[in-house]
Amino acid sequence: MIKPDAVENGHIGAILEKITAAGFKIVAMKYTQLSRRDAQEFYAIHKERPFFGELVEFMTRGPIVAAILEKDNAVDDFRALIGATNPAEAAEGTIRKLYATSIGENAVHGSDSDENAAIEGGFHFSGREVF
Ligand code: CMP
Repeated sequence: MIKPDAVENGHIGAILEKITAAGFKIVAMKYTQLSRRDAQEFYAIHKERPFFGELVEFMTRGPIVAAILEKDNAVDDFRALIGATNPAEAAEGTIRKLYATSIGENAVHGSDSDENAAIEGGFHFSGREVF
């Protein structure tokens, strides 16, 4: 996902350019807004965390871009491309270093495993929306 902060700040095009330049194929994509229920479900794994309320508030405050990306070693390569969760710790040239403002408002989300990528892809897209 390209998160609400990056959308608000006009970075959709630049982020998609970095993603495709890094060799990812976009096999599904949509511009949408999460409801509170959507965000609570998507981030259910974090529901006991102290930042959960803030995370749901942030993720629902404006539109996002959801996408499914395909590449060999996609999970690890995408995590390298986006950089550390906290942009202050993200490597130079990574998407979060360039476009994120804080650990909470960190511009993009990437799946942390192939298994979660399949679950998260299914959360956003039906089979007919994946090419
Ligand atoms: P993401 O990769 O989307 O997965 C969980 C999100 O929780 C994370 O990015 C951050 O946006 C958010 N998050 C993680 N740690 C914190 C924190 N300490 N304070 C606020 N938000 C956080």
